[in-house]
Amino acid sequence: MISEKEYNSKLDEVRKYITDRVSSKPELGIILGSGLGAFADLVKDKVTISYKDIPHFPVSTVEGHAGQLVFGKVEEREVVIMQGRFHYYEGYTMQEVTFPVRAMQVLGVTGLIVTNAAGGINQEFRPGDLIIIKDHLNMLGDNPLRGSNLSNLGPRFPDLSDAYNSEWRKRALSIMQEYDIQPHEGVYAAMSGPSYETPAEIRHLRVSGADMVGMSTVPEVIVANHGGMKVLGISCVTNMAAGILPQKLSHAEVMETAERVEKKFVDFVQGILRVL
Ligand code: 6GU
Repeated sequence: MISEKEYNSKLDEVRKYITDRVSSKPELGIILGSGLGAFADLVKDKVTISYKDIPHFPVSTVEGHAGQLVFGKVEEREVVIMQGRFHYYEGYTMQEVTFPVRAMQVLGVTGLIVTNAAGGINQEFRPGDLIIIKDHLNMLGDNPLRGSNLSNLGPRFPDLSDAYNSEWRKRALSIMQEYDIQPHEGVYAAMSGPSYETPAEIRHLRVSGADMVGMSTVPEVIVANHGGMKVLGISCVTNMAAGILPQKLSHAEVMETAERVEKKFVDFVQGILRVL
Protein backbone atom coordinates (compact mmCIF):
# COMPACT_ATOMS: atom_id res chain seq x y z
CA MET A 1 0.00 0.00 0.00
CA ILE A 2 1.46 3.34 -1.02
CA SER A 3 1.75 6.32 1.33
CA GLU A 4 -0.49 9.37 1.26
CA LYS A 5 2.44 11.55 0.20
CA GLU A 6 3.40 9.24 -2.64
CA TYR A 7 -0.19 8.99 -3.90
CA ASN A 8 -0.66 12.77 -3.86
CA SER A 9 2.56 13.38 -5.75
CA LYS A 10 1.46 10.86 -8.41
CA LEU A 11 -1.86 12.67 -8.72
CA ASP A 12 -0.06 15.96 -9.05
CA GLU A 13 2.00 14.60 -11.95
CA VAL A 14 -1.16 13.32 -13.63
CA ARG A 15 -2.89 16.69 -13.23
CA LYS A 16 0.12 18.50 -14.73
CA TYR A 17 0.41 16.02 -17.60
CA ILE A 18 -3.27 16.47 -18.51
CA THR A 19 -3.58 20.22 -18.02
CA ASP A 20 -0.49 20.69 -20.25
CA ARG A 21 -2.38 18.94 -23.06
CA VAL A 22 -6.04 19.78 -22.51
CA SER A 23 -7.47 23.28 -22.16
CA SER A 24 -11.04 22.31 -21.23
CA LYS A 25 -12.06 22.18 -17.55
CA PRO A 26 -14.34 19.15 -17.19
CA GLU A 27 -17.06 19.35 -14.53
CA LEU A 28 -18.55 15.95 -15.31
CA GLY A 29 -16.85 12.57 -15.57
CA ILE A 30 -18.35 9.64 -17.47
CA ILE A 31 -17.21 6.02 -17.20
CA LEU A 32 -18.27 3.94 -20.18
CA GLY A 33 -18.92 0.23 -19.60
CA SER A 34 -18.70 -2.66 -22.06
CA GLY A 35 -20.13 -1.79 -25.47
CA LEU A 36 -20.84 1.86 -24.72
CA GLY A 37 -17.71 3.11 -26.45
CA ALA A 38 -19.73 4.85 -29.18
CA PHE A 39 -20.69 7.58 -26.72
CA ALA A 40 -17.21 9.02 -27.25
CA ASP A 41 -18.16 9.72 -30.90
CA LEU A 42 -20.53 12.48 -29.70
CA VAL A 43 -17.75 14.56 -28.21
CA LYS A 44 -17.03 17.98 -29.77
CA ASP A 45 -13.61 19.68 -29.61
CA LYS A 46 -12.28 16.27 -28.72
CA VAL A 47 -8.85 15.66 -27.18
CA THR A 48 -7.95 12.05 -26.39
CA ILE A 49 -5.13 10.77 -24.23
CA SER A 50 -4.30 7.08 -24.20
CA TYR A 51 -4.03 5.56 -20.70
CA LYS A 52 -0.62 4.20 -21.58
CA ASP A 53 0.70 7.74 -22.04
CA ILE A 54 -0.57 9.11 -18.71
CA PRO A 55 1.94 8.83 -15.88
CA HIS A 56 0.95 6.25 -13.22
CA PHE A 57 -2.20 5.08 -15.04
CA PRO A 58 -2.76 1.33 -15.11
CA VAL A 59 -3.03 -0.19 -18.61
CA SER A 60 -6.33 -1.69 -19.80
CA THR A 61 -6.30 -5.38 -20.78
CA VAL A 62 -9.90 -6.28 -21.63
CA GLU A 63 -11.14 -6.70 -25.18
CA GLY A 64 -13.64 -4.09 -26.33
CA HIS A 65 -12.09 -1.34 -24.22
CA ALA A 66 -10.20 1.41 -26.01
CA GLY A 67 -8.27 2.57 -22.96
CA GLN A 68 -8.28 6.33 -23.25
CA LEU A 69 -9.52 9.52 -21.64
CA VAL A 70 -11.66 11.65 -23.95
CA PHE A 71 -12.02 15.35 -23.19
CA GLY A 72 -14.43 17.78 -24.82
CA LYS A 73 -18.06 18.87 -24.93
CA VAL A 74 -21.31 16.90 -25.14
CA GLU A 75 -24.57 18.88 -25.00
CA GLU A 76 -22.46 21.96 -24.20
CA ARG A 77 -21.17 20.28 -21.02
CA GLU A 78 -17.44 19.94 -20.47
CA VAL A 79 -16.80 16.27 -19.88
CA VAL A 80 -13.99 13.79 -19.34
CA ILE A 81 -14.82 10.28 -20.44
CA MET A 82 -13.11 7.05 -19.43
CA GLN A 83 -13.39 4.90 -22.53
CA GLY A 84 -12.51 1.61 -20.92
CA ARG A 85 -12.17 1.01 -17.20
CA PHE A 86 -10.01 -1.08 -14.89
CA HIS A 87 -11.52 -4.09 -13.16
CA TYR A 88 -10.55 -5.67 -9.86
CA TYR A 89 -10.64 -9.12 -11.52
CA GLU A 90 -7.81 -8.10 -13.83
CA GLY A 91 -5.57 -8.10 -10.77
CA TYR A 92 -5.33 -4.37 -10.12
CA THR A 93 -5.54 -3.13 -6.55
CA MET A 94 -8.57 -1.10 -5.54
CA GLN A 95 -6.35 2.01 -5.57
CA GLU A 96 -5.34 1.29 -9.15
CA VAL A 97 -8.94 0.64 -10.24
CA THR A 98 -10.01 4.00 -8.83
CA PHE A 99 -6.95 6.06 -9.79
CA PRO A 100 -8.71 7.63 -12.81
CA VAL A 101 -11.56 8.86 -10.55
CA ARG A 102 -8.96 10.57 -8.39
CA ALA A 103 -7.43 12.07 -11.52
CA MET A 104 -10.91 13.42 -12.40
CA GLN A 105 -11.26 14.84 -8.90
CA VAL A 106 -7.97 16.77 -9.05
CA LEU A 107 -8.99 18.09 -12.48
CA GLY A 108 -12.08 19.64 -10.86
CA VAL A 109 -14.78 17.09 -11.71
CA THR A 110 -17.75 17.32 -9.31
CA GLY A 111 -20.18 14.82 -10.85
CA LEU A 112 -19.79 11.32 -12.23
CA ILE A 113 -21.93 9.14 -14.48
CA VAL A 114 -20.98 5.45 -14.28
CA THR A 115 -22.29 2.80 -16.64
CA ASN A 116 -21.90 -0.95 -16.72
CA ALA A 117 -23.13 -4.24 -18.14
CA ALA A 118 -24.83 -6.36 -15.49
CA GLY A 119 -26.62 -9.64 -14.98
CA GLY A 120 -30.31 -9.36 -14.10
CA ILE A 121 -31.38 -10.85 -10.75
CA ASN A 122 -34.78 -9.14 -10.50
CA GLN A 123 -37.16 -11.30 -12.55
CA GLU A 124 -38.97 -8.22 -13.87
CA PHE A 125 -35.84 -7.27 -15.79
CA ARG A 126 -35.08 -8.44 -19.33
CA PRO A 127 -31.83 -8.47 -21.29
CA GLY A 128 -31.55 -5.05 -22.93
CA ASP A 129 -33.17 -3.12 -20.04
CA LEU A 130 -31.47 -0.02 -18.69
CA ILE A 131 -31.69 0.33 -14.91
CA ILE A 132 -30.90 3.37 -12.75
CA ILE A 133 -28.74 2.21 -9.84
CA LYS A 134 -30.29 3.30 -6.54
CA ASP A 135 -27.83 1.67 -4.16
CA HIS A 136 -25.16 -1.01 -4.07
CA LEU A 137 -23.88 -4.03 -2.18
CA ASN A 138 -20.10 -4.11 -1.98
CA MET A 139 -19.37 -7.86 -2.12
CA LEU A 140 -15.77 -7.35 -3.27
CA GLY A 141 -14.28 -8.01 0.16
CA ASP A 142 -12.14 -4.90 -0.18
CA ASN A 143 -12.53 -1.13 -0.16
CA PRO A 144 -10.55 1.40 -2.19
CA LEU A 145 -10.31 3.71 0.85
CA ARG A 146 -8.51 1.10 2.99
CA GLY A 147 -5.18 2.43 4.24
CA SER A 148 -4.13 5.96 5.15
CA ASN A 149 -6.88 8.45 4.48
CA LEU A 150 -6.08 10.96 1.73
CA SER A 151 -7.36 13.76 3.95
CA ASN A 152 -6.89 16.43 1.28
CA LEU A 153 -9.30 14.47 -0.93
CA GLY A 154 -12.04 13.47 1.53
CA PRO A 155 -13.01 12.29 5.03
CA ARG A 156 -11.81 9.14 6.84
CA PHE A 157 -15.35 7.75 7.21
CA PRO A 158 -17.41 8.96 4.26
CA ASP A 159 -21.21 8.71 4.35
CA LEU A 160 -22.73 6.56 1.59
CA SER A 161 -26.41 7.00 2.43
CA ASP A 162 -27.05 8.86 -0.84
CA ALA A 163 -24.19 7.35 -2.85
CA TYR A 164 -26.33 7.49 -6.01
CA ASN A 165 -27.66 11.03 -5.77
CA SER A 166 -31.42 10.92 -5.29
CA GLU A 167 -32.10 14.15 -7.20
CA TRP A 168 -30.07 12.94 -10.20
CA ARG A 169 -31.87 9.58 -10.11
CA LYS A 170 -35.22 11.37 -10.15
CA ARG A 171 -34.17 13.42 -13.18
CA ALA A 172 -32.83 10.39 -15.05
CA LEU A 173 -36.02 8.39 -14.34
CA SER A 174 -38.18 11.31 -15.45
CA ILE A 175 -36.75 11.30 -19.00
CA MET A 176 -36.66 7.52 -19.53
CA GLN A 177 -40.13 7.40 -21.10
CA GLU A 178 -39.04 9.93 -23.76
CA TYR A 179 -36.48 7.34 -24.81
CA ASP A 180 -38.95 4.47 -24.78
CA ILE A 181 -37.23 2.98 -21.73
CA GLN A 182 -39.13 1.48 -18.78
CA PRO A 183 -38.22 3.58 -15.71
CA HIS A 184 -36.59 0.93 -13.49
CA GLU A 185 -34.30 1.39 -10.49
CA GLY A 186 -32.30 -1.33 -8.79
CA VAL A 187 -29.60 -2.31 -6.31
CA TYR A 188 -26.29 -3.33 -7.91
CA ALA A 189 -24.17 -6.02 -6.25
CA ALA A 190 -20.47 -6.02 -7.13
CA MET A 191 -18.73 -9.39 -7.17
CA SER A 192 -15.01 -9.73 -7.82
CA GLY A 193 -15.34 -12.16 -10.75
CA PRO A 194 -14.00 -13.15 -13.22
CA SER A 195 -16.14 -16.29 -12.85
CA TYR A 196 -19.86 -15.60 -13.02
CA GLU A 197 -21.86 -16.45 -9.93
CA THR A 198 -23.35 -19.83 -9.07
CA PRO A 199 -27.15 -20.14 -8.87
CA ALA A 200 -26.80 -20.36 -5.04
CA GLU A 201 -24.84 -17.11 -4.97
CA ILE A 202 -27.52 -15.42 -7.07
CA ARG A 203 -30.26 -16.61 -4.66
CA HIS A 204 -28.13 -15.26 -1.81
CA LEU A 205 -27.78 -11.89 -3.54
CA ARG A 206 -31.53 -11.77 -4.30
CA VAL A 207 -32.59 -12.26 -0.67
CA SER A 208 -29.99 -9.64 0.27
CA GLY A 209 -31.77 -7.10 -1.88
CA ALA A 210 -29.77 -7.12 -5.11
CA ASP A 211 -31.51 -6.55 -8.46
CA MET A 212 -28.46 -6.85 -10.69
CA VAL A 213 -24.90 -8.12 -10.41
CA GLY A 214 -21.65 -7.09 -12.02
CA MET A 215 -17.89 -6.82 -11.58
CA SER A 216 -17.28 -3.07 -11.56
CA THR A 217 -18.63 0.35 -10.57
CA VAL A 218 -18.66 0.03 -6.77
CA PRO A 219 -14.98 0.96 -6.25
CA GLU A 220 -15.31 4.04 -8.46
CA VAL A 221 -18.55 5.09 -6.76
CA ILE A 222 -17.01 4.79 -3.27
CA VAL A 223 -14.05 6.95 -4.29
CA ALA A 224 -16.26 9.50 -6.08
CA ASN A 225 -18.38 9.85 -2.93
CA HIS A 226 -15.26 10.18 -0.78
CA GLY A 227 -14.21 13.00 -3.09
CA GLY A 228 -17.57 14.76 -2.70
CA MET A 229 -18.86 14.01 -6.21
CA LYS A 230 -22.50 13.44 -7.08
CA VAL A 231 -22.97 10.10 -8.81
CA LEU A 232 -25.46 8.69 -11.30
CA GLY A 233 -25.16 4.97 -12.13
CA ILE A 234 -26.81 3.10 -15.00
CA SER A 235 -26.71 -0.65 -15.64
CA CYS A 236 -27.47 -2.32 -18.93
CA VAL A 237 -28.89 -5.77 -18.21
CA THR A 238 -27.05 -7.85 -20.79
CA ASN A 239 -28.21 -11.28 -19.59
CA MET A 240 -30.07 -12.89 -16.72
CA ALA A 241 -27.88 -14.07 -13.81
CA ALA A 242 -27.11 -17.74 -13.15
CA GLY A 243 -30.00 -20.08 -12.34
CA ILE A 244 -32.74 -17.76 -13.59
CA LEU A 245 -32.94 -19.18 -17.11
CA PRO A 246 -32.13 -22.77 -18.12
CA GLN A 247 -29.03 -21.72 -20.03
CA LYS A 248 -25.36 -21.05 -19.44
CA LEU A 249 -23.87 -17.59 -19.17
CA SER A 250 -21.38 -16.36 -21.72
CA HIS A 251 -19.30 -13.28 -22.28
CA ALA A 252 -20.44 -13.48 -25.91
CA GLU A 253 -24.07 -12.94 -24.82
CA VAL A 254 -23.00 -9.99 -22.68
CA MET A 255 -21.22 -8.37 -25.64
CA GLU A 256 -24.07 -9.14 -28.09
CA THR A 257 -26.69 -7.48 -25.88
CA ALA A 258 -24.40 -4.54 -25.09
CA GLU A 259 -23.97 -4.02 -28.83
CA ARG A 260 -27.69 -4.32 -29.54
CA VAL A 261 -28.55 -1.73 -26.85
CA GLU A 262 -25.64 0.60 -27.58
CA LYS A 263 -27.57 3.18 -29.62
CA LYS A 264 -30.46 3.43 -27.11
CA PHE A 265 -27.97 3.66 -24.23
CA VAL A 266 -25.86 6.35 -25.93
CA ASP A 267 -28.97 8.43 -26.77
CA PHE A 268 -30.22 8.14 -23.20
CA VAL A 269 -26.92 9.19 -21.61
CA GLN A 270 -26.83 12.15 -23.99
CA GLY A 271 -30.37 13.05 -22.89
CA ILE A 272 -29.36 12.81 -19.25
CA LEU A 273 -26.64 15.42 -19.81
CA ARG A 274 -29.39 17.91 -20.68
CA VAL A 275 -31.12 17.43 -17.32
CA LEU A 276 -28.27 16.94 -14.83
CL1 6GU B 1 -24.48 -12.65 -14.39
N1 6GU B 1 -22.47 -11.56 -13.18
C1 6GU B 1 -21.47 -10.70 -13.05
N2 6GU B 1 -20.71 -10.74 -11.94
N3 6GU B 1 -21.17 -9.77 -13.98
C2 6GU B 1 -21.94 -9.74 -15.07
C3 6GU B 1 -22.99 -10.62 -15.26
C4 6GU B 1 -23.23 -11.54 -14.26
N4 6GU B 1 -23.56 -10.33 -16.46
C5 6GU B 1 -22.88 -9.31 -16.98
N5 6GU B 1 -21.90 -8.94 -16.16
